[in-house]
Amino acid sequence: MKKLTLIVSTFILSFMMTACNCGDKNREGQTQDALENIFARKSVRKYLPKPVEREKAELLLKAGMAAPTGKNTQPWEFVVVTDRGVLDSMAAALPYAKMLKDAPMAIVVCGDVTKSSYWYIDCSAAAENILLAAEALGLGAVWTATYPYEDRMEAAKKYTGLPDHIASLCVIPVGYPAAPQTPKDKWDASKVHTDKW
Ligand SMILES: Cc1cc2nc3c(=O)[nH]c(=O)nc-3n(C[C@H](O)[C@H](O)[C@H](O)COP(=O)(O)O)c2cc1C
Repeated sequence: MKKLTLIVSTFILSFMMTACNCGDKNREGQTQDALENIFARKSVRKYLPKPVEREKAELLLKAGMAAPTGKNTQPWEFVVVTDRGVLDSMAAALPYAKMLKDAPMAIVVCGDVTKSSYWYIDCSAAAENILLAAEALGLGAVWTATYPYEDRMEAAKKYTGLPDHIASLCVIPVGYPAAPQTPKDKWDASKVHTDKW
């Protein structure tokens, strides 16, 4: 009886893992352990002239939407941009996002301001998840700020046609890295305070 229970529960567990893709460490053959991936992430601003596969782009968005949000509001909206004209226009208008000119795609991370007064905090968690997922998939990406700069938010709004209640947090150019890069080591024990400052 015990043996049967074990077989049935193993079957159910493996079915659940397959169904939700959980535990599939080697999805796309390129994912890394979570911590290894966190420490390997870096801002990538130079890309190969190679498109990002649709499946990978979707995984980036799924990672974004897996982020936590206050009261589970999920105020995010995402604009996936692959149109060369739109990417080039944003590159021209955004002073610190010139790398959009060479990126095959970008994700504009936005928030619905009617759903949360702190949409930009929730959307920041989503943006970080997207950056981590990009690293795990062998892609390179960088957060380029639009919020809180009104001129940059206006430019993103103009070129992606955002409605008035949707504000952009950042534009994330994504592509295959042009060259390998070493992540910065930011560990600083002096920033850690134990029990009291
Ligand atoms: C809120 C925020 C705004 C940023 N804005 C820009 C930007 O406009 N342009 C850019 O090239 N990088 C931008 N970055 C990326 C930072 O420059 C980068 O994360 C930082 O230098 C640390 O490097 P690393 O990401 O490789 O660890 C931004 C990052 C954050 C979190």
